[in-house]
Amino acid sequence: MQLKNNKHYDDKTLKRWIEDDSLTDELNKKADAIRKEIYGDKVYVRGLIEFSNICKNDCYYCGIRKSNDRVERYRLTKEEIISCARLGYQLGYRTFVLQGGEDGHFSDDIVVDIVKSIKEIHDDVAITLSLGERSYESYKRLFEAGADRYLLRQETSDKDHYEKLHPESMSFENRRKALRDLKEIGFQVGGGFMVGSPYQTTESLIKDLRFLEELEPAMIGIGPYMTQHDTPFKDFPNGSFEMTLRLVSILRILFPYALIPATTALGTINPLGRERGLQAGANVLMPNLSPTMVREKYSLYDNKICTGDEAAECRACLELRIKNAGYEIVTDRGDVITYDKETRRYS
Ligand code: SAM
Ligand code: FES
Repeated sequence: MQLKNNKHYDDKTLKRWIEDDSLTDELNKKADAIRKEIYGDKVYVRGLIEFSNICKNDCYYCGIRKSNDRVERYRLTKEEIISCARLGYQLGYRTFVLQGGEDGHFSDDIVVDIVKSIKEIHDDVAITLSLGERSYESYKRLFEAGADRYLLRQETSDKDHYEKLHPESMSFENRRKALRDLKEIGFQVGGGFMVGSPYQTTESLIKDLRFLEELEPAMIGIGPYMTQHDTPFKDFPNGSFEMTLRLVSILRILFPYALIPATTALGTINPLGRERGLQAGANVLMPNLSPTMVREKYSLYDNKICTGDEAAECRACLELRIKNAGYEIVTDRGDVITYDKETRRYS
């Protein structure tokens, strides 16, 4: 079993893999074989709790950006978040992902209290946070409170591209620093990017792959860019499904050990997107555990799937999809394979 891919793929090879539609099947098969060698047929599930759609940022692509005044804003209480986790636990989830906009209400004290409370109730779960950019000290407090993982996509590793996707108030350097801080503190870190975001080029995607090679994240989340009709990017088309599948495979080839989700965006752009994602090398699914009444409000992009379903329906639906695609759902924390429970570090 070879956890690290020590082979160097030059830019020319990566460019061909990224751009050539005729290579999708071949890359998918190669990636699926690598995943099988390391993780077998196992698929890890994470219950996603979208706890707030309030955000101080104004990313041009995102439906819950602060300037979008057509979104009805919500914020779950601590009790509501804990009750989502209780329900999730009963449904068999052993990882909860708490994701939200950069909502100032969620101070360190409040998040620490939520993390500790969930861990007191369920001592065998992992908690993943996805709360955007915070200071080193803040991340450290969250880790010390018991949070295990942190998802923060770099979005793009090309400074010029970053500046086309974000207003001046947001910093390319700060995003990258945050990822390095998280890793240094000991979190299992997740990076990632959208495929086909406006102004993206093959060269910027290659920079993303190189940045990830340097970061060595435990998790890598990618999905197609999806248009949202109330954003400044409303006239840009969705990213390509095929290219996203190829990139899932490229990630598996470059990072054999990584936890790679077949994302909701992939399931939105194609009805069988999540199954195809698994077959392309992904090994994680993140079904929604948020209360049904708030789901539509977490509208990052148009036509997002599963907004009307109950948590139990999502679980049942996914179980069937995973089985039909030829994989096996696992009920455990699903840490990255190089994780050491004693030291809470991965290598
Ligand atoms: N605030 C946290 C952060 O910044 O990491 C987490 C929430 S943010 C909405 C989660 C991810 O959604 C982003 O990293 C971005 O890649 C993705 N996203 C936002 N808008 C999207 C769109 N229009 N299409 C596809 N993905 C999108
Ligand atoms: Fe903050 Fe999208 S702009 S979550």
